[in-house]
Amino acid sequence: MILKAVSQRLKIYSTIQEMRKSTKRFVKKVNCVKFYWPELRKNPSSKILYLVPFLLFDREVTNFTYDISNVEELVSFLSKEFGVSESAITALVQELENDTELRSSLEQRLQRRKDRNKRARYGRRIGWYCITRMMKPSLIVETGTADGLGTAILARALHRNKQEGTAGLLLSFDIIDDAGWLADAAHGSDFRILIEDTKSSLDGHLSGKKVDFFIHDSDHSYAHETLELENVSKYLREGAVIISDNAHASTAMKDFCERRELPFAFYREQPKKHFYPGGGIGLSFYTPRARNNSSNSAR
Ligand SMILES: C[S@@+](CC[C@H](N)C(=O)[O-])C[C@H]1O[C@@H](n2cnc3c(N)ncnc32)[C@H](O)[C@@H]1O
Repeated sequence: MILKAVSQRLKIYSTIQEMRKSTKRFVKKVNCVKFYWPELRKNPSSKILYLVPFLLFDREVTNFTYDISNVEELVSFLSKEFGVSESAITALVQELENDTELRSSLEQRLQRRKDRNKRARYGRRIGWYCITRMMKPSLIVETGTADGLGTAILARALHRNKQEGTAGLLLSFDIIDDAGWLADAAHGSDFRILIEDTKSSLDGHLSGKKVDFFIHDSDHSYAHETLELENVSKYLREGAVIISDNAHASTAMKDFCERRELPFAFYREQPKKHFYPGGGIGLSFYTPRARNNSSNSAR
């Protein structure tokens, strides 16, 4: 009798806990919508349609994932900036899209979490994959691992590079203890997740090394992004690629590039079937003193 009463109580308790969590998630989602509302109002018909499914069914409250509808634009952006043919870049996009092993490993992991969507959707990270495959970098630094979706995609690109004879390493930094839980899905050992604050840990890990590809995707405040860019620039190899995942919301990278007379180019993604207005890729090549014109193009 007592056991039954206790278990019934526990059931109610866990139901109440679940309801609390759902309510918290819903409030967070409403706050997200409020935050993006001024931008949504500019383009209501295509975006507002997705507000209700987001509020009612979407499991994500931050770092949204989605497919993008302007992959062709991404391809021509990369083609122009890297001087590589659109057909070669399209082949890399398809390589990632057709990588069923990666996708199913990611989705197996995602399905274990009630607070994540079940499908693996890469968004603008497709561009990160193509860049890694084109450049074959020896060292990539990603700041801001979060779940490790970008990390897994980058590590997968490194894994393929290694299979073709060019090995590389990815260092990904985050401050949350369980960051990077998706990254193993890449089935490669070419990455390290470092649970350390990039405010103080970059020098320790990069001293004596040359970075070929840097991705800022951590604390998106202007001051922090600037701190990372300034700090990492000491270790960038001539011609290294720099990306900011925050260039749609901040001028930190553009200003950094202007100060250093580096090129700057920007691509904005268009999320498919999602209310989020989309992030972007701020892109530069570390070519100090190499530029003497004011073109807005990276190459
Ligand atoms: C936008 S998410 C990263 C998304 C990830 N790159 C992806 O592809 O999904 C930002 C992450 O940066 C981390 N972060 C914030 N401040 C940081 C810091 N000072 N050092 C390292 N990581 C930081 C947060 O914990 C969060 O997980």
